[in-house]
Amino acid sequence: MIGRLNHVAIAVPKLEAGVAVYRDTLGAKVSAPQAMPEHGVTVVFVELPNTKIELLEPLGAGSPIGKFLEKTPGGGIHHVCYEVADILAARDQLKAKGAKVLGDGTPRIGAHGKPVLFLSPKDFCGTLVELEQV
Ligand code: CO
Repeated sequence: MIGRLNHVAIAVPKLEAGVAVYRDTLGAKVSAPQAMPEHGVTVVFVELPNTKIELLEPLGAGSPIGKFLEKTPGGGIHHVCYEVADILAARDQLKAKGAKVLGDGTPRIGAHGKPVLFLSPKDFCGTLVELEQV
């Protein structure tokens, strides 16, 4: 069902510091910050030859990564995103296998303008999984 690794998302308390690590220390190409108030994050995309890293900084009160950063104040891997061809078919297959889809199960438009869903870490080896239809 799942295809390519689309991105790994890393939550950081300070985006500028994360950008400096990836751009200056690791020598990667990093996009300009993009505020996504509807997702409660500001994001930059780190372009790698075979995938992307997204650095996420909380934006506004009640950011979905706020609680995560309370537990891991220095930042950490927040989720991994796998590509699927048909997100509704993937959702229905996963639900039939007993996996928990977060929210109301309706795909939302993610950071790349494509439909996404999140799956409970409890069912996926302790890792929050994002599915993105490509
Ligand atoms: Co993501």
